[in-house]
Amino acid sequence: MTQSIIIDCDPGVDDAIALLLAFASPDLKVLGITTVAGNVPLTLTQANARRICELAGQTTVPVYAGCPRPIMRSLTTAEDIHGKTGLEGVELPEPTMPLQPQHGVDFLIETLMNSAGDIILATLGPLTNIAIALIKEPRIAAKISKLVLMGGSTTEGNVTPSAEFNIYVDPHAAHVVFTSGIQITMIGLNVTHQVLTTAARRERIRAIATPVSQVAADLLSRYGTQEVERGMAGSPLHDPCVIAYLLQPDLFTGHPVFVEVETGSELTMGRTVVDAWRRGDRPPNANVIQTVDANGFYDLLTTRLARL
Ligand code: RIB
Ligand code: CA
Repeated sequence: MTQSIIIDCDPGVDDAIALLLAFASPDLKVLGITTVAGNVPLTLTQANARRICELAGQTTVPVYAGCPRPIMRSLTTAEDIHGKTGLEGVELPEPTMPLQPQHGVDFLIETLMNSAGDIILATLGPLTNIAIALIKEPRIAAKISKLVLMGGSTTEGNVTPSAEFNIYVDPHAAHVVFTSGIQITMIGLNVTHQVLTTAARRERIRAIATPVSQVAADLLSRYGTQEVERGMAGSPLHDPCVIAYLLQPDLFTGHPVFVEVETGSELTMGRTVVDAWRRGDRPPNANVIQTVDANGFYDLLTTRLARL
């Protein structure tokens, strides 16, 4: 059954791979892409989203620019991971497909309010757009079928010892989303660090030998080696896990728990505090994913990329 989704993202190398996986999957109907400041500033994330749409021949998918900064904090970016352009490793031409004139937040509100309530939100970056949309029009919460997000962690952080990047960049937005009542599935670093871009997996993608797979392999070439310098077998391929979950949820396991976002302490700012042992009396507000079949994930990614 085709799932209608809106992807909110901050491309970003792993966002780009996630977009390609979505475009390669007819089980997903991408109603639109909203972009947010995160890995790189909004001027780049919105252009990069359009570059990836054009690469995949998806120029009819509308791309919107959303919020250029977090709600309260100043923007933290991640050029060290994604490069100054946000798509380190490839030179894609300036996009010619238009950026939609409507603000991404208003696109989210309008589309959700006019829907039958069957739209899934797939978020791959800081949650600023989603939070602002919820504040501007709270009724969209009941219109979101489910929200699958890459963010948070049940273990360590990656931008601080406590916090994962997407949540850390805009912890106040994450607080709004996690207290919204929306059906959330959280795919955190504890999961994405199980799907490392090893050399063998990168070469398998390169061996597809299509223009799109070459770009994907080039994107993963530098990205994929960064963690190797720290002794890991590859880099965690975060954002495609969200799309893979929508396509093949049985690759993952998780359970419903209560999650709260730290917005007070600077030491643990942006940490997702996961009440795994139900120490508190608050009911679960998220399905927190714990495991992924890494080989199954890369089988899915590689076979789908070969379709583009
Ligand atoms: O922490 C990883 C997340 O932060 C990914 O979504 C990556 O693209 C960055 O946005
Ligand atoms: Ca991202």
